[in-house]
Amino acid sequence: MAGATTAALVTAVARAGALGFLAAGYKTAEALAADMADVRAAGVASFGVNVFVPGRPAADPQRVAAYVGSLAAEAVALGVAPGRATWDDDHYPQKLEVLLARPPALVSFTFGVPEPEVVGSLQAAGSLVVLTASTAEEAAVALGAGPDALCLQGCEAGGHRAGFANDDRPDQDRPLRALLAAVRRRTLVPLVAAGGVSGPAAVVDLLARGASLVQVGTAFLRCPESGAPPAHKDALVAAGLDATAVTRAFSGRRARALVTAMVREHPDAPAAYPEVNNATRPIRAAAAEVGDLGRMSLYAGTAHRRAEARPACEVVERLVSGLRP
Ligand SMILES: Cc1cc2nc3c(=O)[nH]c(=O)nc-3n(C[C@H](O)[C@H](O)[C@H](O)COP(=O)(O)O)c2cc1C
Repeated sequence: MAGATTAALVTAVARAGALGFLAAGYKTAEALAADMADVRAAGVASFGVNVFVPGRPAADPQRVAAYVGSLAAEAVALGVAPGRATWDDDHYPQKLEVLLARPPALVSFTFGVPEPEVVGSLQAAGSLVVLTASTAEEAAVALGAGPDALCLQGCEAGGHRAGFANDDRPDQDRPLRALLAAVRRRTLVPLVAAGGVSGPAAVVDLLARGASLVQVGTAFLRCPESGAPPAHKDALVAAGLDATAVTRAFSGRRARALVTAMVREHPDAPAAYPEVNNATRPIRAAAAEVGDLGRMSLYAGTAHRRAEARPACEVVERLVSGLRP
């Protein structure tokens, strides 16, 4: 979880017997290497790293500029100026170099499918490669790249949707169980099921439906090891913040978040990632500093109210408790 996963969270999850993923997103390659070194120094040999596949610069820069202009009041209220709406590749080639130099057990990708040579070189270096899909059509494309596993992200999931194209095509919102059923009948590749997992019964259910592994994100956000801002941790269970919605207001890419003023007031945010993310960064950071929930990106899955403020090892214990004989 970019912005929320820490080396301490991955270490705690691994010690509890689960598989933790470091988030490479929004970091420099050097910061990723430092996180990987921290996890290894803590004695964790098996962990994954999640990487964003870069997209393309926004097709309509004028629309992006107009949207950023419409955020002026939010910025002024917090005493900051919006950031520059620039495109970047999130240091993708440099991160691949770090991963190839010292391969982790797994490398997963989201927001698209890397070149087959990238998949092949990571596999040759010793990493298992996991590709994320949010529709059966994306899963079919991802399978063509020869991954070791697919992560299926249902529309219940918190944070950014893994969708390959940042567009408005219909039918992008597939509930996890329907997605799992559609893909399971087409492939024997291991499937990781993600999205809205609320507790042990959901873990048992998803494994019975053909998932090989179950992934959770939101359930870890309130842990002491999570790097989510304190206001975000509290908001997940706060009175009056019951609903989540998919929004581009914060980043220019579809993401599930708690419904706050910024989400309600900007249904028109353009498809422009990471341009919008870069422009809103100072606003989001200043809002997090002062606990201004209305202007923070409070990413959350549909099961957010079940997230507990307990150590990550206890969260893992609870999630797997239905698997004991
Ligand atoms: C705060 C937050 C940040 C996330 N960051 C990433 C990320 O960097 N890469 C990624 O592949 N998925 C990311 N996700 C999505 C998770 O990988 C996963 O699909 C999702 O958390 C599962 O749904 P759940 O949150 O309902 O458990 C993020 C989710 C959240 C809540």
